[in-house]
Amino acid sequence: MTLTAKSVARVTLVSALLTAVAGAAIIGASPASGAASTLGAAAQQSGRYFGTAVAAGKLGDSTYTGILNREFDMVTAENEMKMDATEPNQGQFSYGNADRIVNQARNQGKRVRGHALAWHSQQPGWMQNMSGSSLRNAMLNHVTQVATYYRGKIYAWDVVNEAFADGSSGGRRDSNLQRTGNDWIEAAFRAARSADPNAKLCYNDYNTDNWSHAKTQGVYRMVQDFKSRGVPIDCVGFQAHFNSGNPVPSNYHTTLQNFAALGVDVQITELDIEGSGSSQAQQYQGVTQACLSVPRCTGITVWGIRDSDSWRASGTPLLFDGNGNKKAAYTSVLNVLNNGTDPGPTSTTSTTTTTSSNPGGGGCTATYSEGEKWSDRFNGNVTVSGTDNWIVTVTVSSPQRIIATWNTSASWDSANVMTARPNGNGNTFGFTIQHGGNWNWPSVSCRVG
Ligand code: G3I
Repeated sequence: MTLTAKSVARVTLVSALLTAVAGAAIIGASPASGAASTLGAAAQQSGRYFGTAVAAGKLGDSTYTGILNREFDMVTAENEMKMDATEPNQGQFSYGNADRIVNQARNQGKRVRGHALAWHSQQPGWMQNMSGSSLRNAMLNHVTQVATYYRGKIYAWDVVNEAFADGSSGGRRDSNLQRTGNDWIEAAFRAARSADPNAKLCYNDYNTDNWSHAKTQGVYRMVQDFKSRGVPIDCVGFQAHFNSGNPVPSNYHTTLQNFAALGVDVQITELDIEGSGSSQAQQYQGVTQACLSVPRCTGITVWGIRDSDSWRASGTPLLFDGNGNKKAAYTSVLNVLNNGTDPGPTSTTSTTTTTSSNPGGGGCTATYSEGEKWSDRFNGNVTVSGTDNWIVTVTVSSPQRIIATWNTSASWDSANVMTARPNGNGNTFGFTIQHGGNWNWPSVSCRVG
């Protein structure tokens, strides 16, 4: 009987997924040795980031800054880049507190998400009373000025924040900006693109996590429309503020995947989950897994460092307690990031074998095992037993390509099918697959030469 690596993989993946989930649920367990020991480093293993919101007023707190510097590789200003902070008087821009955050982050080698260029809330007083074309022009000037000032320093901008209505309408929220015309959002995105062509431009909102909610569908339709008309949008931010009344939806992965399929990155931008202990930890685990399972989910940001830093501190929604100690939720996130460097199949350690018998007797077994993974490629190894005179066929699926091999003499039957033979370096050989978004394992089969 010949088993393909893929067919065995399907079976073993289920058990491996359960094992990974169970492993990650061992609250308080230390990360596996060799695994990354901070959130940012763990996220980087799969080419992602792990960020936090930062308040300029807390940068003098050594506990706060110590955790910030150690754990996170992306920073969002919690309030300091908002419209009221950056343009307190019309035409007078104020960047002092925002600069403190940006400079601290960049000095530490961290990247910055910009939050937020246009929003109905936290507008300066002068803007709140404006309407019509003067408001539209003031908004566009704000977007242009702020994005230009920070050009080259921002990884992604929340260009427009929270423009959709809650509830069942699926439509826009009423606001002074909305009343300037339905095209205000795309106008803001075009202005931002002109001001900073290299920043990713995101639409950011809350209560858009559940795929079946009208608000989620409304935002989806807008992004779909923008993509079809060439409005410059690169990413969608999911704030992800959860509590018992608004729990993590079971279809979160579906939501992220469906948005990503429109051709945008998705990011979890303001994550916090009220609760405590293992229940909170498991919800954090689920959100992290949902992101890791979507290749275009490029990173996660939590909305603050310690529970006491949160905008809803009484709900203890963050990864560190008020003393700066790691919570169970921290460990569950770190473990998932370490186990989950694979945005496709969730297995990291399983092996699978294929065995074939020669008509003339004797046979061989080829065992495939996963190797290192990166955002664009992964390694695999095959160990052969039963003979030193083996011929192993490795078949990858489109658009995968094998881009390197070692310890074997390889030839090609087609772009997808490689034949591997011994080259004097023993019975284990390896290869690198450029996956093109397809993380399926190759199938391997062995025959005696
Ligand atoms: O700094 C002043 C202080 O001087 C004053 O004594 C005090 C009195 O109320 O207010 C302080 O300012 C507060 C500011 O946070 C800094 O703590 C504001 O009142 C308060 O409104 C502001 O809340 C922020 C909120 O946005 C405003 O909408 C939160 O910190 C911030 O976490 C929150 O962040 C938002 C995101 O931008 C968008 N998504 C939702 C998220 C949570 O609401």
